[in-house]
Amino acid sequence: MAPLTQLKHLLLPIFALHASAFVDYGRVYPSSYAIGAAPTIDADTAYSKKQITLSPASPVLTIDYANEVAGFPFFDVASLSGPTQIEVKYSEEYDALLVPQSDGPWTFSNGLSNTFRRETFNLTSTGLTESYFVQGGQRWQTVRLLTSQPITFTSIGLRATSAHLAADKVPGQLRTSNPIYNGIWDLGARVVQAACIDAGNAPATWDITDQGALIRGQATAQSVKGQGFANYTMTFFTKIVRGGTGWKVAAGSTPYGATFVLTSNYPSDNTFLNTNRTLLPPSTLVFNWPWNIFNQTTVITGTNQYYPLSSPVPEGQWHKISTTISSAGYNGGRFGSGSATKGTFGFGPSEDQIAYFTNVTVAAANGTALYQNDLKSTATLAEYSVDSLGTSICLDGAKRDRLVWVGDFYHTSKVIPASSARFDYILGTIKYALDWQRTSPPYQGLVPISGYMGSRPEYKDLLTSVYGGLNDYQDLFLTSIGEYYRYTADLDGLRPYWTQIKNLVTARLAFIDPVSGLVAGTGASYFLGPVNGSAPTALFSATLRILVPIAKALNDDAAAALYTTTADDLNAALNAKLWNPQLGVYSLSLASPSNFSLTAIAWTILSGAANSSQAASMVAKMPELKLGIGYKTSSADVSSPDYELSPNTQGMLLDALFKAHRDLGVTSLTVAKGLLDDMWSKMVTQDVYYSGASWEYLNPVGKPGIQLFTSLAHPWGAAPTYVLPEYALGISPTSAGYKTFNFQPLLQGLDLTEVNGTVVTPYGNIHAEALQEPWFCLREAMRNAKDDSTTAVMFKCMAGDARTSISATEVKEDVTVYRQSWQIVVTAEKSLVPVELTITITA
Ligand SMILES: *[C@@H]1O[C@H](CO)[C@@H](O)[C@H](O)[C@H]1NC(C)=O
Ligand SMILES: *[C@@H]1O[C@H](CO)[C@@H](O)[C@H](O)[C@H]1NC(C)=O
Ligand SMILES: *[C@@H]1O[C@H](CO)[C@@H](O)[C@H](O)[C@H]1NC(C)=O
Ligand SMILES: *[C@@H]1O[C@H](CO)[C@@H](O)[C@H](O)[C@H]1NC(C)=O
Ligand SMILES: *[C@@H]1O[C@H](CO)[C@@H](O)[C@H](O)[C@H]1NC(C)=O
Ligand SMILES: *[C@@H]1O[C@H](CO)[C@@H](O)[C@H](O)[C@H]1NC(C)=O
Ligand SMILES: *[C@@H]1O[C@H](CO)[C@@H](O)[C@H](O)[C@H]1NC(C)=O
Ligand SMILES: *[C@@H]1O[C@H](CO)[C@@H](O)[C@H](O)[C@H]1NC(C)=O
Ligand SMILES: *[C@@H]1O[C@H](CO)[C@@H](O)[C@H](O)[C@H]1NC(C)=O
Ligand SMILES: *[C@@H]1O[C@H](CO)[C@@H](O)[C@H](O)[C@H]1NC(C)=O
Repeated sequence: MAPLTQLKHLLLPIFALHASAFVDYGRVYPSSYAIGAAPTIDADTAYSKKQITLSPASPVLTIDYANEVAGFPFFDVASLSGPTQIEVKYSEEYDALLVPQSDGPWTFSNGLSNTFRRETFNLTSTGLTESYFVQGGQRWQTVRLLTSQPITFTSIGLRATSAHLAADKVPGQLRTSNPIYNGIWDLGARVVQAACIDAGNAPATWDITDQGALIRGQATAQSVKGQGFANYTMTFFTKIVRGGTGWKVAAGSTPYGATFVLTSNYPSDNTFLNTNRTLLPPSTLVFNWPWNIFNQTTVITGTNQYYPLSSPVPEGQWHKISTTISSAGYNGGRFGSGSATKGTFGFGPSEDQIAYFTNVTVAAANGTALYQNDLKSTATLAEYSVDSLGTSICLDGAKRDRLVWVGDFYHTSKVIPASSARFDYILGTIKYALDWQRTSPPYQGLVPISGYMGSRPEYKDLLTSVYGGLNDYQDLFLTSIGEYYRYTADLDGLRPYWTQIKNLVTARLAFIDPVSGLVAGTGASYFLGPVNGSAPTALFSATLRILVPIAKALNDDAAAALYTTTADDLNAALNAKLWNPQLGVYSLSLASPSNFSLTAIAWTILSGAANSSQAASMVAKMPELKLGIGYKTSSADVSSPDYELSPNTQGMLLDALFKAHRDLGVTSLTVAKGLLDDMWSKMVTQDVYYSGASWEYLNPVGKPGIQLFTSLAHPWGAAPTYVLPEYALGISPTSAGYKTFNFQPLLQGLDLTEVNGTVVTPYGNIHAEALQEPWFCLREAMRNAKDDSTTAVMFKCMAGDARTSISATEVKEDVTVYRQSWQIVVTAEKSLVPVELTITITA
């Protein structure tokens, strides 16, 4: 795509958005596969769209998509002899295919996708059958034949809901002489494709019909209207279409509360052969609290309690179900249990079940009617946060949580410019969060830290639970906005939001403690470290500083001055109150002077609070945080084999370590290189866990950190994708949008002999190459906005005036020359003009 017009083209759809138009990314087919008696990791037969037959002798098809992909699973049947049941599993890592629920279910949120990673189909005719649900992200899939006659497929795959370009086909590029580093860079290029969703590509997961809501098995979705209700009776009518029905009372906006599943009498002609009658016996009420009837790694739920009904529960008939919360617990008809009494209600059958729901009423203990809804209006979808996605956004992860975590967006907003260049997702996420910004107390000025795709901003006064806590997520979100401007200079894109951005800053300024001068706040909590601590204070300093260029570009001198002086004050407070000269590191917090954290080391460097000797001394402290293949976040954390090493926080550190090396003269790159060689390499080198995308957590030996629940497509783990272009290739903007930039490649310290790549800018793509020997080359290409023609101006460092003063021999002999700063000033107009390259060597 045209480099100069790229930004404009990609930004246009944001402003001309039509609600819910599906963006077609084509079909994804397997990369390779195997047919046999059981799943196999050696699914090595290259897929060539030839027919695939499953039979009782070879009932299992293993599909390897090679990399993380997302979409609606489809099955194109060539031939079958009668109704054929298949059980399909999806997973990011191979091992999950060997357990009953694969790597699911997703019991923490309803993310407008299939909650379950196992689903069963009754295929009855030739041609195409597609799953109702999106699968958010997987590398692997199995198809197991359950019935006794063979079936032949013409093709199997996914109708893609996300882009799935190969890493070497996205606009930003990076290649080095180290294949592992290339594999690490690729993780980010893929993860932002899988974890960012176009408006229209996440449809509603409930169907509104004239009989009420038709809901297929999924995590319960809760009404926003019942959040304040307590001690109520919730009554509804339900008709089981298959298997059973399910609901919740006394719940949060997340599916946390009293959970009920009522199974049918399992008529044989409508019951899948793989129905687990131990887990879900027929005509039985199953109760659990708080999450679901399934345990999922870190999302622990209670023990299932079973209450067989005295008469069968037929399908296809309306049942009236009344659940009363009393001081003794929940009374589901004859059954009672539990203790919590407050919270909203929700609906969602269990795996492979389908049911209708209508005529919901809620009555207070004194009989007052609190709520009624026949679930026949489409407004119901947003009320229960299951409406189709209305704005293009980036999620925390492809398969889960599928929430718009605005703190995770920090890394995403930097990975996108370095790779996919899908700036529309960045502006979309900014728009999404600011559409939800609160304009009155509580939380006035704040944005949701974990917004739901299926809700709508009209509910911001009812969904206040999504604004509280993790207050630094607000700052990370603001920093993302600053980064977006730094990469793109897109003032027109940000101007409409400037007042809202300032309102968020104002809300956060109130968290600076007047006594300590550090970031704190009554009842506040921070992801990166404790209140009155180094990490949150340094982050907010960096946040304010990165917004200054936007303020200046908008001629908002007052904001520019306020943000600058406040950032200076925060840095001064950090140095006065938290620098610990005995330890040689900033203290974790006022309350914990002898502990320290890598998040504080990262942000005191990134914010400019730390000077060169402080930075060097902090980097020297890092070995004390070493745990297995990586580093624990804080010295206060207990080391254990289950420790969740975070590539999110270590990504911030990686960025800071390279900055300290480049700007603060910290010579050692041991820690930075170790992060790549020992930790990030683990996401590349282990086929059994490899997803082609970056991970959420790792354990100390380098496996996925929270077992099967681990998101293996989490953009927060992809910092190297933007760090390597900025520091190894060495192209960094010195003014917004790379109008001017530095070229300072780093090869020797990383044991590289070559780095090359493409950096996307609104003025044209920068192609840069750095070779350890015998020369550097730099190319700059421009596009004409009017006719899309290309002017490529090639500048080889071996030729031309600027090179004449340094001969190849000199460069060869004196490698420090490679580390000198090559200042290339590109003056480019938006029409076809010769590109001017001014190259100065700033020794
Ligand atoms: C970029 O670097 C890689 C790794 O050294 C090399 O294989 C490739 O040829 C280089 N590409 C260009 C365009 O120079
Ligand atoms: C599968 O579909 C066929 C055709 O509609 C039907 O006769 C059969 O009962 C179905 N089986 C199940 C388990 O739903
Ligand atoms: C069936 O459910 C039981 C109880 O939850 C569980 O132990 C078992 O693994 C399940 N089996 C399958 C095949 O899902
Ligand atoms: C989940 O695990 C806990 C123990 O950690 C156990 O007590 C509980 O019964 C399990 N729940 C289910 C539904 O398997
Ligand atoms: C609900 O009932 C419980 C138990 O009787 C009581 O403690 C609680 O205060 C009640 N909640 C409300 C909001 O009335
Ligand atoms: C729901 O309520 C409406 C209005 O009272 C009634 O006509 C309808 O029959 C009810 N539906 C069920 C399934 O009871
Ligand atoms: C009945 O309960 C509701 C909800 O708790 C409350 O708002 C209402 O004032 C109560 N009405 C009476 C008459 O006590
Ligand atoms: C932060 O430190 C100041 C000064 O010690 C103290 O007054 C304030 O209560 C602290 N804030 C919090 C939230 O602990
Ligand atoms: C660090 O914090 C931990 C946990 O709060 C505490 O137990 C420990 O004593 C602290 N260590 C130092 C050196 O202050
Ligand atoms: C950095 O700051 C520390 C603490 O204020 C000070 O002791 C040191 O001299 C400074 N180093 C440099 C190089 O300015």
